[in-house]
Amino acid sequence: MYSIAIDGPAGAGKSTIAKTIAKKLGFVYVDTGAMYRAIALYFLRKGVDGKDKEKIAELCPDIQVTIEYIDGEQQVFLNGENVSHLIRTEEVGTMASLTAAQPAVREALLQLQRDMAKNADILMDGRDIGTNVLPNADLKIYLTASVTVRAKRRFDELKAKGVECVLAEIEQDIEERDHQDMTREIAPLKQAEDAVLVDSSDMTIEEVADAVIGAFYRVKEEAAK
Ligand code: CDP
Repeated sequence: MYSIAIDGPAGAGKSTIAKTIAKKLGFVYVDTGAMYRAIALYFLRKGVDGKDKEKIAELCPDIQVTIEYIDGEQQVFLNGENVSHLIRTEEVGTMASLTAAQPAVREALLQLQRDMAKNADILMDGRDIGTNVLPNADLKIYLTASVTVRAKRRFDELKAKGVECVLAEIEQDIEERDHQDMTREIAPLKQAEDAVLVDSSDMTIEEVADAVIGAFYRVKEEAAK
């Protein structure tokens, strides 16, 4: 079994790249952000304050997140309900970033994520995959891009979906999310020591995918020696 970990900040293009690579290599793609988003949706629906540590810890045992693949696409279920189409909003993303800082939330997902890597070749993306979830991954990538480029990508993505948005606000949101994800106490976003840094600011999706696949083949060749 092989595993590839891709970590990086919001809007770096992780999921697009990861999907492309997983398809090319025949790996299962695991989007861990979707799991944090599903939990965030639960708390939003309950009207819980994303910083209320006690309340969040108390409610975590009531939450079950499961993953299924339908036509090769990851679907995330929250207590049996397929919420995949409800979790891609900025509101859920912001709440996910807040609640992902809570130990109870991270504990609830850690084992599920590790178990997924046991039975298949997987490519997992998130914030702490190389540093925490899969410390022995065969290849670790830290994918980033400048704040300006990431904000513009997010803006274009939302526009394409017909969502009204303001570029400056998205840029501010990304900066806040970076700060939140990088400075939290538990499993903060940071480049693993043995991760390959890829700055996608001036690269196309194909170029990034080729760079990662090239790195993976080099790892595989090394291992075969
Ligand atoms: O799509 P985007 O990069 O904006 O975010 P995402 O990957 O869907 O993740 C949403 C939030 O979940 C992030 O801001 C992180 O705070 C959190 N997350 C995490 O803490 N650990 C992970 N492995 C994945 C996501």
